[in-house]
Amino acid sequence: MTKNKSIGIFDSGFGGLDIMKGIVRELPNYNYIYLGDTARVPYGARSEKVLYKFTKQAVDFLFKKNCEIIIFACNTVSSNALRKIQKKYIPKYYPRKKALGVIIPAVELAVQKTKNKKVGVVATLRTVESKSFLREFSKIDNNIKIFQKACPLLVPIIETGEIKTEKINEVLKNYIMPLIDKKIDTLILGCTHYGILKNKIKKIMGNNIKIIAESDIVAKKLKDYLRRHQEIEKKIGREKKRIFYSTGLVKKFEILGKQFYGEKIKVQKIKLSKNL
Ligand code: DGL
Repeated sequence: MTKNKSIGIFDSGFGGLDIMKGIVRELPNYNYIYLGDTARVPYGARSEKVLYKFTKQAVDFLFKKNCEIIIFACNTVSSNALRKIQKKYIPKYYPRKKALGVIIPAVELAVQKTKNKKVGVVATLRTVESKSFLREFSKIDNNIKIFQKACPLLVPIIETGEIKTEKINEVLKNYIMPLIDKKIDTLILGCTHYGILKNKIKKIMGNNIKIIAESDIVAKKLKDYLRRHQEIEKKIGREKKRIFYSTGLVKKFEILGKQFYGEKIKVQKIKLSKNL
């Protein structure tokens, strides 16, 4: 068996690098390939049909690059395309390969953490509308009340690199105060990009509300998954390769990507469709 395969990580942009950072910290020896569809970011308000189409292109790309498993770091993709990809696309075209999302790990942890059974979720519009967080909570505990808040202004602000400005604090307060009023005791940051705002959000929320950032938990879930699925784990190479692909501007990706990944990255530009 050749052991030169990789773990693929897919996101609409470079927010998923924050999740990758967590994964690499927990599982440093494996090979990784990151794909950010920065030419078409944000995904947050796109239709389910378009999200499925973009995700299929990303899946084709990463599996052809010899990935054995793909983590959809993007919540919007995990909410709107993952199930169809797992149930239809992969069984038909890549029957031995796997794709995993980020919604279930966040929900499982929130169920453990909440004491008063009131949980807030901040996410993109399409993630909120998909009701995927509500569905996953109800599978585990029907008595938990979920308060969702779509935050459409956050990703564009982060994508332009304006996270150090006062503007973002004002925008955050507007999104978060209504959740505090609902007396939530746990908040899920249900978007790749929001992890980088964790400290700012904590300042607004205070110490009594627990914040769940996916970069902390997805890595542990993946570790556990690979331990239970040795047939996949055994195929992944341990040459510690980190390869980064972007559909958009390489320079911007390298500069902003460093903020999320925490170290310098070298990015290669690719096309996922004929036009882009
Ligand atoms: N990656 C997306 C998510 O986690 C956020 C950025 C976007 O809207 O594309 O939902």
